Amino acid sequence: MKRIIIAIDGTSSTGKSSIARQLAERVGYTYIDTGAMYRAVTLLAMQGGAFSDDGRIDEARLQGLLEKATIQFRANPRTGRAETFLNDENVEQEIRSMQVSSHVSPIAALPFVRKALVTQQQKMGHGGGIVMDGRDIGTTVFPQAEMKIFMTASPEVRARRRFLELQEKGMDTPYEEVLKNVQERDHIDTHRATSPLRKADDALLLDNSNMTMEEEMDVLLRIFQEKTAE
Ligand code: DC
Repeated sequence: MKRIIIAIDGTSSTGKSSIARQLAERVGYTYIDTGAMYRAVTLLAMQGGAFSDDGRIDEARLQGLLEKATIQFRANPRTGRAETFLNDENVEQEIRSMQVSSHVSPIAALPFVRKALVTQQQKMGHGGGIVMDGRDIGTTVFPQAEMKIFMTASPEVRARRRFLELQEKGMDTPYEEVLKNVQERDHIDTHRATSPLRKADDALLLDNSNMTMEEEMDVLLRIFQEKTAE
């Protein structure tokens, strides 16, 4: 059977990563979380002193750090899940913190960061058999992807999901702060000059505000079967 490229884009906290990971498991493909890569670069900037106190980014410094950095996914032997490594260090937990979440959008808006990560993502997906989730996969990274989904849900539904996820991890962030972060990220992601978040013309719009994961999976598997039978 043809091994295709599945591009899943959409707004933040839509549950893209969970459904993309499950879909990859169901169809035996590799899952690639590109948001984790932008988060890893954000952590690199934070640890490397590329943010000033007022939040400005020292781009020359970050560029130097990025040129020497490695970002990789390695499978956790216990869970089988891919985890993010920055310069050979497991940063999977750290990159999900609110601190990284609130610094990531301006980092993801920098053209040199996008260029470096898109090149790496294109190499990872070469040959197909992947489910890649992000913001620009169907528009920029793989405009030729055979299957494209654009996922969204209302900001309140998304903030609620993120809030519960953070709570589960023992991170106590007020709901209002999570909602504000979701709205701010939407704004920056859709208004940036380089690869703004937008639905590819040939992507299927999936609003999951009132859908269960099972219903979503049914839709995705049906499309997958259609696309691989073609
Ligand atoms: O999916 P996420 O919330 O982990 O993504 C983190 C940030 O990275 C998000 O604010 C937007 C950015 N991002 C991007 O610009 N392009 C991608 N392909 C993936 C994520």
